[in-house]
Amino acid sequence: MILFKQPEALKQFLSSQKAQNVSIGFVPTMGALHQGHLSLIAEAKLSCDLVVSSIFVNPTQFNNPKDLETYPRTIQSDIIKLMSSGCDVLFHPEETAMYAQGEEKLSSKDYGYFIDVLEGSSRPGHFDGVITILTKLFNMVDPNQVYFGQKDYQQCMVVETLIQRHFPAIIFNRCAIVREEDGLAMSSRNTRLSVEERKKAPEIYSALQLVQTEWTQDGWELAMEKAKGVLSKAPFELEYLEVCKTDTLEPLTSFQKSVVVLVAVNLGKTRLLDNLIIN
Ligand code: PAJ
Repeated sequence: MILFKQPEALKQFLSSQKAQNVSIGFVPTMGALHQGHLSLIAEAKLSCDLVVSSIFVNPTQFNNPKDLETYPRTIQSDIIKLMSSGCDVLFHPEETAMYAQGEEKLSSKDYGYFIDVLEGSSRPGHFDGVITILTKLFNMVDPNQVYFGQKDYQQCMVVETLIQRHFPAIIFNRCAIVREEDGLAMSSRNTRLSVEERKKAPEIYSALQLVQTEWTQDGWELAMEKAKGVLSKAPFELEYLEVCKTDTLEPLTSFQKSVVVLVAVNLGKTRLLDNLIIN
């Protein structure tokens, strides 16, 4: 695996590869890698000649300075994991290489209904930070295909819109959520849970499954209420649990067969996200 820290050197190397018709698959991350991230590398390897990953904890997408400060940084073990998963190129820039001083964030405000709800309203400015860094990364890497996890369902919608508008040549891939054996969606933030919190955390996925099993014409509203009930009890602090239309994230006004359930919940000091598509 080749490691680049400078955008110019990365761009030069990748453009020489593209000139030789090498196809590039790109997996952007913020590090603290787990099997969820590595599943994206594996997926990229299936259809691209060269797999590029990036590790950059992007300050502009954090609306909470404490969260940015305590975000896990484990670059040494990340490098080992990437090497053993067959990643070809790692881009790990310094903050100064990605952001010149005083630079403005791009704005996602006209992206559609879905931009202002759920994560959009809980974390103001978050998606502006995401599109700002991804625009820079896509310009540097110039990938043929990109790989994102359904774990961040709303982020996938944002990235698909960014690509439709500004990078129409890139193929977008949304990859399945990788879970621990007990159902907890893998996340870099799981390492912050205490032993007791970790034991309770699988109840998040159980609540989503409860909605799925009780999703019927007559029972759908009750199913949502029951799931909210499970996650409204200590030690959980529920931020939202919403059942939405899969393509717009609009709330349901009547029963629909194909929906997505999205949840954000605080467990102690850790904020966890999960979702489930019901068909
Ligand atoms: P990060 O949270 O590191 O996630 C990187 C990618 O891994 C995202 O596409 C995310 O959805 C995916 N991922 C995380 N957990 C997963 C799981 N359990 N199963 C499958 N995929 C999973 O998302 C970001 O970083 C940043 O916002 C980024 C896109 C890099 C921009 O800074």
